Amino acid sequence: MKLLAIESSCDETAAAVVEDGRKVLSNVVASQVEEHKIYGGVVPEIASRRHAEAVNAVTSQALEQAGVTLADISAIGVTYAPGLIGALLVGVNFAKGLAYSSGLPLVPVHHLRSHIAANYITHPELKPPFLCLVASGGHSHLVEVLDYTKFRVVGKTRDDAAGEALDKAARAMGLPYPGGLHLDRMAKGGNPNAFPMPHPRVTGSVYDFSFSGLKTAAVNLIHNFKQRGEELPVPDLAATFQNAVVGLLTEKTTAAAKNLGYKSIAIAGGVSANSCLRARMGEICSQNGWQLYLPELSLCGDNGAMVGAQAYYEFKSGNVAGLDLNAYATMQIED
Ligand code: KG4
Ligand code: ZN
Repeated sequence: MKLLAIESSCDETAAAVVEDGRKVLSNVVASQVEEHKIYGGVVPEIASRRHAEAVNAVTSQALEQAGVTLADISAIGVTYAPGLIGALLVGVNFAKGLAYSSGLPLVPVHHLRSHIAANYITHPELKPPFLCLVASGGHSHLVEVLDYTKFRVVGKTRDDAAGEALDKAARAMGLPYPGGLHLDRMAKGGNPNAFPMPHPRVTGSVYDFSFSGLKTAAVNLIHNFKQRGEELPVPDLAATFQNAVVGLLTEKTTAAAKNLGYKSIAIAGGVSANSCLRARMGEICSQNGWQLYLPELSLCGDNGAMVGAQAYYEFKSGNVAGLDLNAYATMQIED
């Protein structure tokens, strides 16, 4: 069964054709990064406009590269939540138009569910249940993936998302957007223990994260260097901050895996591309005899293939929307 999938939740306009949730026949991504770069972050209004300009061509390319037409497609999957509302609406409205004109079923896909599903593409043997750390620019969740469409959140961030904290710290260090990627590269030449960093504590769920204290500590360090008129030791700052963020993510993931009895651990979302996180989690999993699942690098950031993968399982479980489908800026992964 071949599904067409459309993604427009942030700053990538993407479309893909995916067979049976696992086999990618095409995956076209039009990135807006260069345009948002000059503003140091995503400008929602610009994102919406660029999606509207690109979505038709990106979808046509996805069908063409897969060597199919709409007649070969069984359903249309689309990201409808969470994300930038104006950006989501472009993809949702386009998908609705296509579903109406073709008579194909419309399948609504939750953005974080699709990030998790990127792992089904890279690892054909992966099946729920497993524990997944989902870390992106907007979310940091520890999720029990009970089934393909059944999730339980056991921990989440109380303030900034991991990616958001990395982006903000990178920006304070003078690194270009998207900060997380540049911080990762810069950290390779730095000392991860160059400066003391606080260890955030949260009350309530033992698996909850907090990144704003780390971010403030990094910003204060940078400020102090600037006040003294000293050159910023960017590689050391990047390595130290990244080490602290990765330390927190891996600590909570390890605790949840041990306490909840998971031996299959996955990571998903844009931050899953982080080389330090991938390496550290790899060490922890091999020490404990756990299996680690990571999406290939090209599927860590936003893309249509992951939407097509999750849409397949949503469709099989009967999740089909009417033409009154709306987009939502926020939505729990369990809903
Ligand atoms: O999932 P994603 O592409 O978009 C959202 O759904 O938010 O995640 C984007 C986030 C950004 O914060 C970006 O800086 C971060 O993923 N990111 C990274 C790396 N590549 C992207 N963070 C750390 N290391 C990377 N290599
Ligand atoms: Zn994302």
